[in-house]
Amino acid sequence: MSHSIDDLTGQVALVTGGGAGIGLAIGTELHRRGAHVYLVDISQDALDAAASALPDAVGVLGNIADLDSITSVVERVVGEAGGIDILVNSAGIGIIKPALEITEADWDRTLDINLRGMFFMSQAVARHMIPAGHGRIVNVASMCGTIAIDGHAAYTASKAGVVGMTKVLAGEWARDGITVNSISPTVVLTELAKNVWNGDEADEMLAKIPVGRFAVPEDVAQAVAFLVTQSGMITGHDLLVDGGYVIR
Ligand SMILES: NC(=O)c1ccc[n+]([C@@H]2O[C@H](COP(=O)([O-])OP(=O)(O)OC[C@H]3O[C@@H](n4cnc5c(N)ncnc54)[C@H](O)[C@@H]3O)[C@@H](O)[C@H]2O)c1
Repeated sequence: MSHSIDDLTGQVALVTGGGAGIGLAIGTELHRRGAHVYLVDISQDALDAAASALPDAVGVLGNIADLDSITSVVERVVGEAGGIDILVNSAGIGIIKPALEITEADWDRTLDINLRGMFFMSQAVARHMIPAGHGRIVNVASMCGTIAIDGHAAYTASKAGVVGMTKVLAGEWARDGITVNSISPTVVLTELAKNVWNGDEADEMLAKIPVGRFAVPEDVAQAVAFLVTQSGMITGHDLLVDGGYVIR
């Protein structure tokens, strides 16, 4: 049977932060294209909610800030599914405060999840992708990796780190058939963000987005699907999904 180029039938996808928001939308899109999807999340409540939204996916409790947890998640998925073709690192947090108010704990937590977690998850999965000679890794960064927004010092450090790290991994694993790219959305209206982004602040932000709307999780999911189905010539790229925000 021949498949269309964007068909993911038979492929195994692991999505971190897959219990909610952007990660769940990515898992949903990859599943729609035929992938066998594992959603990894630190929150059992999120996984329970995701199980009703996407019953065919497998929920796995795990903490990407903890190396032992990463190892056991990856071993479990590889043991069950035989390998991992696609890794999407979406789990992340944002602690938004003026620079003078950021504590050591805020800084460490942000970097531990957003940067260190993405690195060690990529490393653990690449150990299986390299012998297989094929893999697609997408890291969810942010337009904050490219531009400066007040209150985002720790978050921006983590996301700029993700963009840079992605390029290095892309180079190191290019000959192994693995592409590593990042996606950098503007404000994405997840259920959570809908409550945060309203009123004057939302109007100000919206005015800076040339297309005139915030992103929705499906915008990001489509871009991820493109990066995991492409032929392999796009690697080390940071794909902005920002409605044109950074062109001004
Ligand atoms: N929402 C936005 O406006 C926006 C914009 C740009 C980039 N992003 C990035 O997109 C990614 C997803 O964000 P979202 O808006 O969907 O957030 P969200 O809070 O809706 O979902 C994140 C999920 O990650 C999980 N998670 C958090 N810490 C974890 C850990 N240590 N281990 C495993 N899972 C963990 C949470 O439980 C949650 O289910 C993040 O990396 C975020 O920085 C979001």
